[in-house]
Amino acid sequence: MLIKELKLYNYRNYSRKNITFDPKLNIIIGPNGIGKTNILESIIVVSNTKSFRTNNDQNLIKKDSEFSKIELSSDTDRFKVVLGNKNRSLYINDVLIKKSSEFIGKLNAILFKPNDLELFVQAPNERRKVLDIEISKVSQSYIRSLLQYNYLLKEKNRLLKEPEVDEMLLETINEQMIPLIKTILEERDYFFEVISRHLSSLYNEISASESEIRIIYKKCCETADIANKLQEAKEKDFYYHYSTFGPHHDDYYFLMDGRELNAIASQGQKRMSLIAFKFALIKYIKDKINKIPIVLLDDILSELDRDNQERLIGIMSEDAQVIITNTDIKGLNINKRYKLIDLKEEAHV
Ligand SMILES: Nc1ncnc2c1ncn2[C@@H]1O[C@H](COP(=O)(O)OP(=O)(O)OP(=O)(O)O)[C@@H](O)[C@H]1O
Ligand SMILES: [Mg+2]
Repeated sequence: MLIKELKLYNYRNYSRKNITFDPKLNIIIGPNGIGKTNILESIIVVSNTKSFRTNNDQNLIKKDSEFSKIELSSDTDRFKVVLGNKNRSLYINDVLIKKSSEFIGKLNAILFKPNDLELFVQAPNERRKVLDIEISKVSQSYIRSLLQYNYLLKEKNRLLKEPEVDEMLLETINEQMIPLIKTILEERDYFFEVISRHLSSLYNEISASESEIRIIYKKCCETADIANKLQEAKEKDFYYHYSTFGPHHDDYYFLMDGRELNAIASQGQKRMSLIAFKFALIKYIKDKINKIPIVLLDDILSELDRDNQERLIGIMSEDAQVIITNTDIKGLNINKRYKLIDLKEEAHV
């Protein structure tokens, strides 16, 4: 996938902004606060329909404006996201897309950002969010099953809070949940299988080291056991007044040479592991939908030493379009041809 042109109207600090991109490597530079992350964020809004910095669209609309608009032309389609006070409208090639599930992932972008390291210490629900977003971008059946499961889960929890639980209704909800849980677990299994296949070798390649990195999926149960487990959990559900079993409790963690990565790895090693994880995600997306996502690096390179920078850029820009932000070009060790987008210079034109 390639982004050819991005147009922003009243988005964050931009009244109007047009940027054309090189099909390979792009470097956006400018001082703190000029709007580098805002540009990458707008691309992620087109990819995920949501920002990674806020859940409130109002924050994305330029101060004192009524709405904002992101127009993005890829090599195949024109995407438009219009963010209003209360609602957002999504368009592909000028056709209104009513369900966001049919928009997510049509433009596929992967973002590397400095606070990705939080993944290691976040609450499980935040880690699951990462998992759900990435699988949703490549699987319609996953996103549909997940939305339906979450709806039923809400119903079930509401039911369990009532003084007299309607057991018949509870049974019906459980029955409806079984095929949904099966799809969710199968898709997650496949995700972790592909990530596991690539993670360690990618880590070794990027960091030029020998450590073994593994990702471990802690899932609620095997697909064959879903019905039994739902039954077994009933007593506990009644006691706690919420659903104690299901994929909404799944989690994952990382091991380095067999020990918990977060407890033993250095900051640099953690950073490299996450970069390897993101690279493995790129492999997963390619494996699932045979498309290479657009790679966005927000202030990541300046955190790496020069050798690691060079290796990273080398591995990355072979087949993906890459967009990098940094405060200046001096600190970067890049031996490839790139397009420089200097926001400070453009601001004065
Ligand atoms: N809704 C909004 N309306 C107007 N300006 C906004 C809005 N939201 C954010 N901004 C402005 O956007 C700027 C921040 O942009 P951004 O985070 O992209 O900067 P950056 O270039 O990535 O900086 P850094 O190098 O520090 O990461 C700030 O000046 C902020 O005030
Ligand atoms: Mg920034």
